[in-house]
Amino acid sequence: MPRPELLERLAVQTAERAQAQLQRRLRTITQADGPWVESNGQRLLAFCTNDYLGLAQHPKLIAALKEAADADGVGSGSAHLICGHRREHAALEETLAEWTGRERALLFSTGYMANLGVMQALLQRDDLCVQDKLNHACLLDGAQLAGATLRRYPHADVDAAARQLRSNTDTYALLATDGVFSMDGDIAPLRELAALCANERATLMVDDAHGLGILGDDGSGSVAEAGLGERDVPVLMATLGKALGCSGAFVAGSAALIDGLMQFARTYIYTTAMPPALAAATRCAVALARGETWRREKLTGLIQRFRRGATELGLPLMPSRTAIQPLLLGDARRTLEASKTLESQGLLVVAIRPPTVPQGQARLRITLSAAHEEAHVDRLLEALASLRLADAPV
Ligand SMILES: Cc1ncc(COP(=O)(O)O)c(C=O)c1O
Repeated sequence: MPRPELLERLAVQTAERAQAQLQRRLRTITQADGPWVESNGQRLLAFCTNDYLGLAQHPKLIAALKEAADADGVGSGSAHLICGHRREHAALEETLAEWTGRERALLFSTGYMANLGVMQALLQRDDLCVQDKLNHACLLDGAQLAGATLRRYPHADVDAAARQLRSNTDTYALLATDGVFSMDGDIAPLRELAALCANERATLMVDDAHGLGILGDDGSGSVAEAGLGERDVPVLMATLGKALGCSGAFVAGSAALIDGLMQFARTYIYTTAMPPALAAATRCAVALARGETWRREKLTGLIQRFRRGATELGLPLMPSRTAIQPLLLGDARRTLEASKTLESQGLLVVAIRPPTVPQGQARLRITLSAAHEEAHVDRLLEALASLRLADAPV
């Protein structure tokens, strides 16, 4: 038998996915203007970005980015530990540590890389890593990359998490959870998980990609909203590309954690530091996210308006009070059809299908933003009403 060929296998897998009508497609956006996007010559009102506070196009962010680029150029030129760590990075790390109430913070180029780096630095082969089944892919991948024993518990089930931790009490253990679940919008039972970890001598890590900027008094996130601090959640990770409207991520915690990550997190060490101008723009975004509380208030009002309207229409809402308001339709094809029909009516709402979500749990992942207006939400509700989704079998 000749050696099998890798690209052929990939082509077969791609064809199978297309046959199952689960193929992912790339869309090019030719223009973005607040909640509006232009694609294929069509202007669409988008309900699928993670720009929850409407900061991605804020003139102050753009000015900060330009000013820093004028002063320092575009690329950082090297990894942080060589000579890529600029004063804009240092200032942003200080700002993020202060905002989240942590001793220090460390920047990563993306959230995906932050989670891989943390897991790989903290965990060794056969350590125990306990995770919610609905955690973001990069937390699951991180545990696998580290060679840890990955044990997943049913969504938000603290008793099941306890059983997983108690299945092996002799090893080091990390319990990792999303703060706000990216495809569901609900919030992890953080207080219960923190108590469990304290009892079991496990370290708790929270990925607050979708909570930072949105939850807590000054938007400092789901962990602060739950009244938890650095002792309860020693490893806090969040991204800069969602509510902050920029790109990148950080890990916040004790000086010992950050020193350790700098030594051992390979996705921090062996990669180019993010552009310093991006760090400058992000610092401006943090100031706006903290100070302009009207953005959170407006978003909350829009969320409530959407949920009220959707309830009246009998739509299959999920239990979420965050900007992520999915409608659980179940069937992947029907969800895709719904998304296409909405698009024909000028609305961009993506269909999220397996394998991103479990089989039979396809959904329209609707996200709201402070950039939306009440009339936009009403328009979405009207379009959803015309789809007769209330009759959809879940
Ligand atoms: C919960 C969660 N963690 C991490 C990430 C990855 O972050 P990034 O897009 O910065 O790589 C995402 C999504 O992108 C996410 O939803």
